Amino acid sequence: MQLHEFESRLNRPVMMKIPEFERNERLKHVIFSEQFDRGLLDHLGRVATMIKEIARSKDGHKFLQGLLPHKGAMLYFTQASTRTFLSFMRACQLLGMKVAEIRDPSLSSEYKGESPIDSVRMFSSYFDLIIMRSKVPNLAECCAYLMNDLDQFNQRSVPVINGGAGADEHPTQALLDIYTIQRVFEFKSPRDSSVWNRFDDLRKKYPDLNEKGRGPDRKVYGFCGDIGRGRTVRSLANLLTRYENVTMYFIAPDHPTLRPSPEFLNQLKNKGVRVFESHDLAEVIGELDLLYMTRIQNEHNSPEEEAFFKQLDYTRFQLSEEMLKKMREYTAILHPFPRNQEIPTFVDQDPRAMYFRQARNGMWVRAALIAYLFDMDGRIVSYHTSTFSSFHDYNEGVLKA
Ligand code: CP
Repeated sequence: MQLHEFESRLNRPVMMKIPEFERNERLKHVIFSEQFDRGLLDHLGRVATMIKEIARSKDGHKFLQGLLPHKGAMLYFTQASTRTFLSFMRACQLLGMKVAEIRDPSLSSEYKGESPIDSVRMFSSYFDLIIMRSKVPNLAECCAYLMNDLDQFNQRSVPVINGGAGADEHPTQALLDIYTIQRVFEFKSPRDSSVWNRFDDLRKKYPDLNEKGRGPDRKVYGFCGDIGRGRTVRSLANLLTRYENVTMYFIAPDHPTLRPSPEFLNQLKNKGVRVFESHDLAEVIGELDLLYMTRIQNEHNSPEEEAFFKQLDYTRFQLSEEMLKKMREYTAILHPFPRNQEIPTFVDQDPRAMYFRQARNGMWVRAALIAYLFDMDGRIVSYHTSTFSSFHDYNEGVLKA
C-alpha cells in the first residue's frame, strides 16, 4: 500500500478514528493523546509507580523480566531521538522483551527503494510491537490502519505506538508529562511524617492550595516558549482538559508562528479551560503551579522568520535567578527536552527543576503502557499488592509489638 491510499481515513476528525485503535475495550494502537481518558491516565500512573517500586528489588526485577520474554519489539526511529527511543528500549527490557532497532533507513532496504509501509509490514512479521518515529507525516497512524486491515484478513497484526512524528502528536510524551504532574501534585516529601507534612506546610504559606487540593485538578499551568510549533504542548494541554477547573497561561513571543493558534485556544476554551496569553514570563510566573518550558524550534524557521526572530528579546522566555525568586516554592519546572538557553544549567540545582525526573518517569510510564497493551497490568497490580501489603503488615506488627 502507498501512503496516499490512507488519505480518506487520515482526513477525519480524531474522535471518529479513536474507536478503530481499540480492541476488546482496550487500546490496541497508541497514536493520539486523545486516546487516554482520565481513568486510563490514573491507571497507567498507578501501574508505572508499581513497576518502579517492584523494580527496586532483585526478586521484583525477576518478576518483571518474566512478564513478556516471549515478545519482541521493533524500535523504528528514523527521526532523531534520545529520550523517547532509549526510555522505550529500557521499558521493553524491564518487561523482559527482546528489542531490535532501525534508526538509519539508509542501512535498511529503504535504501533500495522499499517504502516505509512495506518496511513496517515486514517488522510485523518478526516482532509483536512496533514503536516508531518518522519524518513522514502521519506514518504511525497509517501503519495502525495497515495493521487493522491485516487483522481483517486474519493476517499478522501487531500494535503500533507513535513515538512522536514530525509536527504531529507525541502521545507518550503527554503521558509521561501527566504522570510527572500527578506525582508533583501529591506534594509528598521524603521528610513527611506523622508530625510534619509538606502539603500542610505549603497550605499555610499559599492559602489558595486549600481549595486547589492535591492532584492535577484546579491548578494553574504555564506553557512557555515555542507554543505554535510545539507538539508536546498541544498533546499535554489536550490531556489536561481531562481535569477540572484548569487554568493555562501560554507565554510566547508575539508572532503567529510561535503563539498558540486561535483554533487551539478556542478548543481549550470550549472544554472549559481558562486561557490567558502573555509575552513575558516574568509577569505571570508567580501565578503558576507548574511551568512547562519549551525551546524555540529554530530548525523549522523560514528565511523570513529567521530574520524576524533575530530581533526578538528571548530573555522574556528564559528562566533567570530573578524569575526563580518570584516563583512559588512548590512550582515544578518541566521541559520535554532537548533544551537550549531557556533553562540555564544553574536551574538544575533548584529543587523545583523536575525535568530529569520527568525524563526518567518516561521509562516507568512507557513500561506501564506496554504492559497494559499486552494485558500484563493486572499481574503487576497483583504482584505489587501481595508483595507490598505483606511489607505493610510486617511493619504494623513491629509497631504493635
Ligand atoms: N522529549 C523527546 O521526545 O525527546 P527526544 O526527541 O530525545 O526523544
